Amino acid sequence: MKAIVTGGAGFIGSHVALALVERGAKVTVIDDFSSGDFVNLKRFRGEVIAQDINHVHWDQMNQGETVFHHAALTDTTVTDQRKMMYANVEGFRKVLDFCLERRCKLIYASSAGVYGNEPAPQSEEGSKNPLNIYAYSKWVGDQLAEEALRENPVPIIGLRYFNVYGMGEQNKGTAASMVYRLAEQMRCGMRPRIFFDGGQSRDLIYIEDVIDANLKALEATRSGIVNIGTGTGTTFNRLIAILNEVLHTQLVPDYFENPYRFYQNETRAEIKQAEKLLGFKSHYTIAEGIRDYFARLYQFPRVVASSIS
Ligand SMILES: NC(=O)c1ccc[n+]([C@@H]2O[C@H](COP(=O)([O-])OP(=O)(O)OC[C@H]3O[C@@H](n4cnc5c(N)ncnc54)[C@H](O)[C@@H]3O)[C@@H](O)[C@H]2O)c1
Repeated sequence: MKAIVTGGAGFIGSHVALALVERGAKVTVIDDFSSGDFVNLKRFRGEVIAQDINHVHWDQMNQGETVFHHAALTDTTVTDQRKMMYANVEGFRKVLDFCLERRCKLIYASSAGVYGNEPAPQSEEGSKNPLNIYAYSKWVGDQLAEEALRENPVPIIGLRYFNVYGMGEQNKGTAASMVYRLAEQMRCGMRPRIFFDGGQSRDLIYIEDVIDANLKALEATRSGIVNIGTGTGTTFNRLIAILNEVLHTQLVPDYFENPYRFYQNETRAEIKQAEKLLGFKSHYTIAEGIRDYFARLYQFPRVVASSIS
């Protein structure tokens, strides 16, 4: 099997690229390294094209039977609409055109951001209300995919990720998951900083489950856009309680006012469609995912601020 993975130096894309190589596939990664990190690709054996998907010579590409499209500007706080739309919509259009022309399967990353503050559980058929330019760019991508699906027989699967956490997200800085960002604060002895009053909740899904969803999408015979979440929401207060337990700390939240207008209060995926279309269901509970993640991430004990006299 031959595959192209765009965004393959990033968090999710690198895991997908590695999982495919492990299964014997010949994989080409395309990434402009704008938020990706070579560290994620150290174990990768395959071709790496260090280019912007908007500038790649797609007409000269012949590697792909399946394209896993993960390249995107992923920082949801970016407000430059021109930059976001060019990267995420025009980039997606180029990948989509390539797949339609070459008749190769497209598996691409959508986002739960498209739902905005629509009531949980958010379902694929439910209304969309993107609250920022990132979420809007993802929604436009979904509409391009839906239009292509109506007019072409090429298989297209959109994976509408909820909040993904796990090894390899460290490259994302402030765009990394709350699991990682809060844990980093707490390991330094700092009180975890969250928006008032910590009751906001997220459907947090572990990277191992997301890899599984991508591999199931590869096998799937039907097209569609499906939620990739656990179906369970975790409040930030509950997340901190779990982190305290796993990290052996006893830190209380430090609440502050939310400065963002475009904030999602509750995300929780309706998961029936993913089960139906892909046979996918997540395996890791939030506590299991965090334990597995930290066993890999924090192999070596680090000196915490509170232990320095
Ligand atoms: N991580 C999550 O919780 C989450 C949730 C919903 C959707 N998604 C989507 O999943 C995909 C992967 O996200 P991630 O978390 O791995 O983020 P990431 O930032 O780690 O990965 C994105 C990768 O795309 C690359 N890239 C960006 N613009 C590019 C361009 N124009 N040309 C080539 N490469 C480019 C970056 O360098 C990076 O390696 C994205 O499409 C994102 O929108 C992620």
